[in-house]
Amino acid sequence: MKSDVLARRLFEETLGALDLYSIYLGDQLGYYRAMTGGDWFSAESLARRTGTSVRYTEEWLSQQAVRELVEVQDERAQPRRYRLPAEHVPVLADPDSMMAVIAGATDLARIARRLPDLVTAYRTGQAPPSMPWEPEGRSEQNRAQYLNLLGKQWLPAIPEIDERLMRAGARVADIGCGTGWSSIAMAEAYPLVSVEGIDLDAQAIAEAGRHAHEHGLADRVRFKAGDAASLSSEGYDVVTIIQALHDMSNPVEVLHAVRKSLAGDGVVLVVDSHVEEEFSVPGTPQEQLNYGISLMVCLPEAMGPGSAATGTVMRPGTLRRYAANAGFTEVRMLPIESQKWNFYRLTV
Ligand SMILES: C[S@@+](CC[C@H](N)C(=O)[O-])C[C@H]1O[C@@H](n2cnc3c(N)ncnc32)[C@H](O)[C@@H]1O
Repeated sequence: MKSDVLARRLFEETLGALDLYSIYLGDQLGYYRAMTGGDWFSAESLARRTGTSVRYTEEWLSQQAVRELVEVQDERAQPRRYRLPAEHVPVLADPDSMMAVIAGATDLARIARRLPDLVTAYRTGQAPPSMPWEPEGRSEQNRAQYLNLLGKQWLPAIPEIDERLMRAGARVADIGCGTGWSSIAMAEAYPLVSVEGIDLDAQAIAEAGRHAHEHGLADRVRFKAGDAASLSSEGYDVVTIIQALHDMSNPVEVLHAVRKSLAGDGVVLVVDSHVEEEFSVPGTPQEQLNYGISLMVCLPEAMGPGSAATGTVMRPGTLRRYAANAGFTEVRMLPIESQKWNFYRLTV
């Protein structure tokens, strides 16, 4: 790439990075939420509504306008008035929308805070201190995907899993369930199943329990904190590992425990970030994103003595090797169209 092209590209990306930080501010300060109704706001009226400083709000609105994130009514009027276009609400102000970028912007801000720790970790080869969730609160990047797609499109498209989930009393284990949205989505879509969500992170499990309770599912969706490699229950009809295997320091041990926990005809579904079979340059946009997240989050979180240190880019060949080492005979990629996810069925 020529140096002027590279410099131009990185200039554009600097604008993009600053947009995402401005979106972080807009979310944290409640600016976007205040503007969802489509009303016109001056800096003063928005600052009053959100309990913020007029001068800072004025600067934020000006930046949002020149970047066309908000509309301005009349550029020359004083004071200027701004509004959030209705088409921008699902992207900037609705966390349940599949187009929302809010959680991504929040995670970028968190990543920026940990960069000095990453510099040290890259030198020592150890894991940095875990990324704290506070003060923003936990990121739920995949929540909308699970609530909108997992039980409504993905699982019904896999006949061997759909059929088992229709059985009365079917038991599901959801490994690496985080705050529980995949478990909840499965229980909502399949009223006869009970789901046990398991995750190493006790705080995430406590939140998952609250989410199940709020959805009226506490009787069928239960959560347990622990290492899935020590899974002791048996007889699961379906085991899911959704966006979690590449994060595990011990994926083979977990897959081994999963294999032992299956009912006679139980099935295993692994859903992970969409990756290509082979490394190639330039990568697809999803592959570029995966490597970026891997540098900053997934690889560092999994590093440590004896870790598989997979990183976000878990190629199908890597999964096949993990599965074979855990005693599975076959890994089949399932034909579900997605730019974001790969779906695999593991056979005992
Ligand atoms: C990227 S998070 C995804 C959480 C959730 N599946 C989602 O998509 O929102 C990966 C999760 O795997 C969990 N995890 C990693 N290793 C684990 C293990 N050995 N046993 C159980 N959970 C594990 C982590 O605690 C983390 O919550």
